Amino acid sequence: MDMQGKTVLITGGSRGMGQQLALKLAARGANIVVNYRRDEESAKATVTQIEAAGGTPLAVKADVSVTDEVEAMVAAAVERFGRLDVVVANAAASAFKPLMDIRSHHIEKTMGITIQGFLDLVRFSLPHMQNGGRVLAVSGWDSFRALPLHGLLGASKAAMESLVRNLAVELAADGVTAVGICPGAIDTDSFRLYAASGTGSWEEYEKRWLALTPSGAYPTPPRSPT
Ligand SMILES: NC(=O)c1ccc[n+]([C@@H]2O[C@H](COP(=O)([O-])OP(=O)(O)OC[C@H]3O[C@@H](n4cnc5c(N)ncnc54)[C@H](OP(=O)(O)O)[C@@H]3O)[C@@H](O)[C@H]2O)c1
Repeated sequence: MDMQGKTVLITGGSRGMGQQLALKLAARGANIVVNYRRDEESAKATVTQIEAAGGTPLAVKADVSVTDEVEAMVAAAVERFGRLDVVVANAAASAFKPLMDIRSHHIEKTMGITIQGFLDLVRFSLPHMQNGGRVLAVSGWDSFRALPLHGLLGASKAAMESLVRNLAVELAADGVTAVGICPGAIDTDSFRLYAASGTGSWEEYEKRWLALTPSGAYPTPPRSPT
């Protein structure tokens, strides 16, 4: 895959799977817009690794649940690189609680990131994308099965998948393809946080997970070639 001269914007590109995707595409020559919300240290570390991988990074702090911040992020990306080729709605955050403990502010935040933030990202980016552009939405296995404490995030991801199906139809005339990916459990910071909230500690969860896994290993984000 040749990404020379292409610009990729990844929400939540500073950690976890978003970061590893950033590094992989940077190694293929892409300009990478690394969005983050508050962990500036991880964003800076990602920028340094992208430069080492041969890519050109731009870190942009923006909470994707805030429309004005998404608009400013896209504007900053376009000012720096002139165009967008791929936008990846990867950022996620939620309250890992039983549904009966979920309150309106949890719903507002989760849906604000996964639904409103996703649509805002596409809406502001589309005028700067050309024929052949890609919209990628990162869903998750909680969209189609019940997982402890994932009721709210799973509902938001199911809605996100519905948006992807409709965007695929609506954006086709612009030559832009919308696709979703649906990962299973991957060992990242947020997965460890979720695991610990259900069992008391990551170490306890890890022991149980490994006991259930025939290969004795669990998935981690694909590591960058660097
Ligand atoms: N890990 C899994 O097992 C798993 C399974 C299925 C699906 N997924 C999905 O895969 C995606 C990535 O997950 P991950 O585990 O790699 O995540 P992660 O390691 O926890 O990283 C989350 C990223 O999202 C950013 N972020 C959070 N809220 C944000 C907001 N409001 N605005 C902008 N950025 C925000 C974080 O930035 P800051 O650090 O600055 O806050 C960070 O860069 C998510 O959509 C998740 O639902 C993960």
